[in-house]
Order: sequence, then C-alpha cells, then structure tokens
Amino acid sequence: MEGSVEGSGTSTPLGKPKESQGHPGSVWPKELIALEPGESAWQVALKKIQELSDSDHRDPFMVADLGVLASRHRAFCQALPRVSPFYAVKCSSSVWVLRVLDTLGTGFDCASQVELDQVLGLGVAPSRIIYANPCKPVSHIQYAARHGVQLLTFDSEEELTKVAQHYPGARLVLRLLTEDSESIFPLSAKFGASLEACERLLKSARDLGLAVVGTSFHVGSNCRTPHSFRQAIADCRRVFEMGRAFGHDMSLLDIGGGFPGGEGCEPQFEEMARVINAALAQDFPEGSGVEIIAEPGRFYAASVCVAAVNIIAKKAVLESGGRRKLLYYLNDGHYGIFRLFLREPAPSTPIVVKELCSDPPLFPCTLYGPTCDAFDKLFREEVQLPELDVGDWLVFPSMGAYTSSMSSTFNGFPPASTYYAMEPKLRCLEGERRDSPLRGSPQGLSLVRGACG
Ligand SMILES: Cc1ncc(COP(=O)(O)O)c(C=O)c1O
Repeated sequence: MEGSVEGSGTSTPLGKPKESQGHPGSVWPKELIALEPGESAWQVALKKIQELSDSDHRDPFMVADLGVLASRHRAFCQALPRVSPFYAVKCSSSVWVLRVLDTLGTGFDCASQVELDQVLGLGVAPSRIIYANPCKPVSHIQYAARHGVQLLTFDSEEELTKVAQHYPGARLVLRLLTEDSESIFPLSAKFGASLEACERLLKSARDLGLAVVGTSFHVGSNCRTPHSFRQAIADCRRVFEMGRAFGHDMSLLDIGGGFPGGEGCEPQFEEMARVINAALAQDFPEGSGVEIIAEPGRFYAASVCVAAVNIIAKKAVLESGGRRKLLYYLNDGHYGIFRLFLREPAPSTPIVVKELCSDPPLFPCTLYGPTCDAFDKLFREEVQLPELDVGDWLVFPSMGAYTSSMSSTFNGFPPASTYYAMEPKLRCLEGERRDSPLRGSPQGLSLVRGACG
C-alpha cells in the first residue's frame, strides 16, 4: 500500500487531512487542523507526507497536536498540586502553544523583551509572568517596568544596580546555583549565586531599597535525578531564612524547569514529582504562606510535535575493514530543528516511512543536515537504519521542545513549517483551569474559551 509505514509496525491508510472551515464568527481558525477523535499528530504527518510525495517540494515540516498540552498540564497539576506552572516560552514560542496554555491557566516564564511582548500581547496579566533571565539588558528591564511585569530574577550585584536604577519597584527573585551535573543541559556554569554569595546579595538588595520576594533555581534542562531538586529546595530554605533576617518578605519559591519531556524518559516525571513534593513538605510545608511556582518548558512541549524530514542526498562509503556505511543528507539539521540534539548523549531513532521487506538489513548511518557546514549533523553518534533513497521520509517523535524556537535560516534554508492540529472537543479547555493567587484574569483567547458554554 502506498504510503504505508514500516519500521514502526503500523500500516496507515492515508488521505487528505480535514481542515476546518474557519467560517465568519467561528472560533476554530482556518489554519488549525481538526483532528478526528483518536487521531494523532503522527497520522496527520503521514497524510501530509502522502500529499507531498507526488511533488518535488518535500520540505521538512512538523505537526503539533495542541491537545497534548492539555494532557501534560493535567499530569503536571496532578503530580505537583502545590506548584503553579509558569511555562518557559523559550521552549516553544508558537502563538498557538501560548494561547492554549493561557487558556489552561498557566503563567509564563519570559527571557527577553520579545517574549514579554508576545505573552502580554495575548492579554496575559503581568502578574502571571516572571522575567526569569538573571542577566537582562537595561532596555528590557525598562520594558518590564513600563508594562508592570514585577517578578524579575537576579544572581549578581551588577543586576541589582541596574534594577535599582531602572525598576526600583520590581519584586526580585534570587536565583541559586544548583548541582546540575546529572542534567543533559547544565546551566549552573552561567547562572546562579552560591549560598555564600546569597548573603551578600540579600544585604545589597536591602541597602539599595530593593524587595527580594523569593528564590529560584534551575537544576539543568532534562535533569536525570530528582535529588538535584531536593538539594536545591533545601538550599532555598536556607536562603529564605537569610532573606528574612535582612528584612525581606520571602514568599515565593520558584523550582524552575528541568522536568523530563518525551515519552519513556528516566526518571519518570511522577517519580521526580514524589521527591519534589516530599522536599516541599519538609522545607516549605503547607501553611507556610509560600507560593510555589515552576518554569517547565520541555515537559509541556516535547511530545506536542512530530517532525518529518526528507532525504535530499545520499552517499555509501566502504570503510577499511569492509564495513558499509551510509551518509544521508536531510533537508533539516543542526541549524534547523535539530539544534540541541548534537548535545544529547544518544541519538533518537527516526521512524522510516517506506514500504520495506519485513526484516531489512540495517547499516550504520550518519545523518547530515542540508547546509555546507560539516558540523551540521543531527546526532553525534551513528544511527542504525535500512538502505533508503533520495526522496524518502524520516519521522521523529517528541520534537516540540527547543526545535522551532532555535531554528535559523543559515545557508538560506527556511525553518520547517508547523501544522497545528487539535481535537474539536478540546475547544472546551476552560474546564482545565486552576485557580492560583498569582493568576490574574486572562483574556485574549477566543479560540478555545469562546467556544464553551
Ligand atoms: C530560566 C529557565 N527557566 C526554565 C527553563 C525551561 O527548562 P526545561 O525546558 O528544562 O523545563 C529554562 C531552560 O533553559 C531556563 O533557562
């Protein structure tokens, strides 16, 4: 059957995806694909592949199932009932992702003026935003001040000096250094104050007349051990005590991001959450009057997208010893949606979209991106794949985190386009919202909320 899939063990009939009508007054915008009940982003990607397979324009694309955001949100709230998620916009800043999350009632962690502007532009109340980049340009601090985004993180004397001059009314959150050696993407070499430095910073803030309202940390993205959270939460408690001793009204704990993203991650999110809940119960028990937030990115966004890329060129190499190796050149790579994957310890294995014999021989393959840079590989290591041809497609699951938001146009290759899809019944996401003292009244989303009631 044309377009059936091998390698995944599935065989899917293909047809044109049903696009919604987008008639006047509809809250279901035209560009959003209406998923049939039970239909997934993977199935939509297969349909798109079939549409493109008669053409020479087999550009890379992603399909995003926005409904996944609702299930991730539910899982987050169930596992960490005391923690309000402030989604890290940097992870995927698509307007659709942000709109759905706004409707679900998350807050937002922004890293720059553009991200602040994007979130405020949706009608999100400034009280639902934390500007969580500890090293900020002066003009971006001024922007936050003009728009009433009060929560700002810091980890240095210099940042305090800038804030004192340009935003003395800010509510500051002190970012702590964490032990992050067990994370795939550590952050502590660049950000975070040591416990010794915290005392000095809290005193300086007081002397400058600035209000420090709490602490934050980030255990590194894709953290592999919940114990990093336990230690960091214990450190935060010590800094809360220090802060109170300097007269600061310490009332906000921000446990950052770092939660696992795609399917099958180890440790599982629920296991991590159990350790976090126990640490919170010990150091910040209920009734302590401390508001707890987090800045999850990958956890929400990773499994939203699948990506489809096409083989545009191929070489077979006979290595000394007679080993046959294949080099596949794909139309997306390190400078596109695979920017972070060279830093992953192990490659992700793509799903081959091609009819093949039942047990095809596999070859060690290097996957290159399309640019003229030899560094432009998808993964450090080889992947085992069957013999494929120019024009064949590979599909990668769990591609929603740090992919489109990190894509460039290097060498003139445009970023992969994304098709957004959602089950119509999820228009009533309003029921998912949770109340939080930090949340204002979100406006701005006609897509989902307008359809309810
Ligand atoms: C300050 C901050 N918060 C949150 C995040 C999101 O982290 P993750 O995607 O690992 O949840 C990042 C990622 O780099 C970050 O730098």
